[in-house]
Amino acid sequence: MLNIALFGPPGAGKGTQSKLLIEKYNLTYISTGDMLREEIVNKTPIGIEAKSIIERGDLVPDEMIVQIIETKVTMNLETRGILFDGFPRTIVQAYILDGLLLKLNTSLTCMLSLEVPNDDLITRMLERAKTSGRADDNLDVIKVRLKEYENKTKPVIEFYSEKGKYFPVKGVGGVDEIFRSLCQTIETTVPQNFFNIVLLGKPGSGKGTQGEILARKNNLVYISTGKMLRQEIANDTEIGRIAKPFMERGEIVPDEIAIKLIERKIERNPSAQGFIFKGFPRTIVQAYILDGLLRRIDSRVSCMLNLKLTTIESIKRLNNRAKTERSRPYDASAELIINRLEEYEKKTKPVIDYYKRQCSFFEIDGAGTPEEVNFRLEEAVKEVNKQLR
Ligand code: AP5
Ligand code: MG
Repeated sequence: MLNIALFGPPGAGKGTQSKLLIEKYNLTYISTGDMLREEIVNKTPIGIEAKSIIERGDLVPDEMIVQIIETKVTMNLETRGILFDGFPRTIVQAYILDGLLLKLNTSLTCMLSLEVPNDDLITRMLERAKTSGRADDNLDVIKVRLKEYENKTKPVIEFYSEKGKYFPVKGVGGVDEIFRSLCQTIETTVPQNFFNIVLLGKPGSGKGTQGEILARKNNLVYISTGKMLRQEIANDTEIGRIAKPFMERGEIVPDEIAIKLIERKIERNPSAQGFIFKGFPRTIVQAYILDGLLRRIDSRVSCMLNLKLTTIESIKRLNNRAKTERSRPYDASAELIINRLEEYEKKTKPVIDYYKRQCSFFEIDGAGTPEEVNFRLEEAVKEVNKQLR
């Protein structure tokens, strides 16, 4: 999981940057300030108690924060990660956060701290006061909030810098510019936990259909060597010209070519949450190659999903596709289909045994509608996500 605490004094731009970060990294957003304001609007017991404290500019008691945050964190078991805005704000809260994340078998990835001088903070909040409707956006209260920050919140920096998890980021400048620095910090200094799926199955088992759905739903980059090769052939590139005859015979293209394409795709997506490799690796050699490529980005295959389908059902599907405009050159004849099924038996089956020993491995029934198969695959992905925490 990618768990980030966005830290900084009042008015530093935490709320502003949070919106962009949760979107980009697909994170669950937890803002204690927003939650407290909601409690106030709803006149809950917590809201009633918090109202006067917030209006004075003081921090609300830690016990109150635990109450509102615990359910919110434990409600989000399936998330890719959490972005905390304005929490933890005291050393006690930093310990509370550790405990909460431990319950989810995870920990805080980093604390990103927006650095903005006090004068700018005051200007920004007074400007915001014109439209925010926030009772705490006036000069007297702002001064108290800044003091609370100095006294109670700043010490949290040391708590995380001792753990090597504190990263200051310049919070002055354009919103986009600051956002870029935040992303850069996340991508360069924080170890990325890529989530990488290898999706295998015999020709016609539904890898392409399912791979694209899985990628979309889980925010992963879809890598299909077949698709990339077809693109190269269509563009008549050097790679395309070499690959063409192999593809037409229904044979596996030389490894150097597939490696080049995959390497390029990984490099072009440095901020990906992970990759889905569809129909790759197809040989043991390619499995070693993929391990090597992923090691370069400090990563590995997280799980292998093997779509199971009977040979007869596969042939039926390929034969049907041959009648549509999505027909591949190698769908055209029974001979080519058999060729590919044989290549699969001979070369790809050992890959499955290889992964069985290396990572989480799932056999998924590939029969039924695409929705039914997707449901089974998503269940497996959830399971792996749980194990990885
Ligand atoms: P909370 O809601 O968290 O407020 P805060 O920390 O005071 O921070 P703000 O929301 O005021 O600022 P921000 O950093 O989000 O900046 P924004 O993006 O809006 O907490 C409120 C109160 O609740 C606390 O005082 C406390 O009482 C209580 N509370 C909350 N959590 C608690 C906890 N864990 N423990 C105890 N008590 C807690 O930006 C500010 C303005 O600047 C905006 O108008 C924005 O448009 C503008 N702006 C943003 N970026 C830029 C930029 N780069 N350049 C120019 N302007 C910019
Ligand atoms: Mg805010």
